[in-house]
Amino acid sequence: MSYDEGTAAAFKAVREVPREGLAEWREAVRRHLRPAPGMTVADIGAGTGAFATSLRDWFGIDVVAVEPSAAMRDRIPQSAAIRVLAGDATALPLPDASADAAWLSLVIHHIGDLAAAAREIRRVLRPGALVLIRQGFPGRLVGVELVRWFPETARTVEMYPTLAETCRAFAAAGFRQEALEQVRETYPGSLADILDEVETFRRADTTMRNLTDAELLRGTQRIRRALREAGDREPRGNVLDLLVLR
Ligand SMILES: C[S@@+](CC[C@H](N)C(=O)[O-])C[C@H]1O[C@@H](n2cnc3c(N)ncnc32)[C@H](O)[C@@H]1O
Repeated sequence: MSYDEGTAAAFKAVREVPREGLAEWREAVRRHLRPAPGMTVADIGAGTGAFATSLRDWFGIDVVAVEPSAAMRDRIPQSAAIRVLAGDATALPLPDASADAAWLSLVIHHIGDLAAAAREIRRVLRPGALVLIRQGFPGRLVGVELVRWFPETARTVEMYPTLAETCRAFAAAGFRQEALEQVRETYPGSLADILDEVETFRRADTTMRNLTDAELLRGTQRIRRALREAGDREPRGNVLDLLVLR
């Protein structure tokens, strides 16, 4: 999927989880990372910078945001604490042993050669540093909002690297699985927001993009039914995996 100007604008509009919905991520990352002043996290495939800014604001650490798409990169708020660099996971523009952790959120399925990326991440991390991966892995999508309403989106996710494949690629580069947990994130507002922005979702999300018109229509009908039955009481959110490697 190409992250061009239109996709980047759509991503920013509907895919960034508002900060107040990330409380569980904040606590999970804090527990594993044990952030300390002076630490640098490489946010690889940083997108529009939602997590780069969160990591900085939550923990007061430095972030190097590496992102190949100019349209996505241009939306990352740069500052003294957030360096923004053009780059790819398989060719990171960072010196050897220069980062204290790597953060990869919803990015591993975009990387052509995950084993090469794992080796490159090993190169830029200091010994003993963590890799934190936020991902919806094939077969582990029960808590994913878009899969609930548009179940055929799982068809695309089934082509993504599995949890086992991801662990194998990183193991070959010297990383071992340290933890795997499910983390909840929430969106404010109502399910009606998905209906209002369904074309924006389609533009912003790889899995939605691959739906047929009939699949999209059936999904919107499911949402309308849920709204009739539960109204605004139906909460919005996802449960995704946090895979921690060291
Ligand atoms: C679904 S977005 C996630 C953005 C951000 N990590 C987040 O969670 O908000 C995927 C991002 O990965 C980037 N990407 C695609 N291929 C990549 C690669 N080979 N290396 C690093 N990033 C890549 C895309 O440009 C896009 O910004």
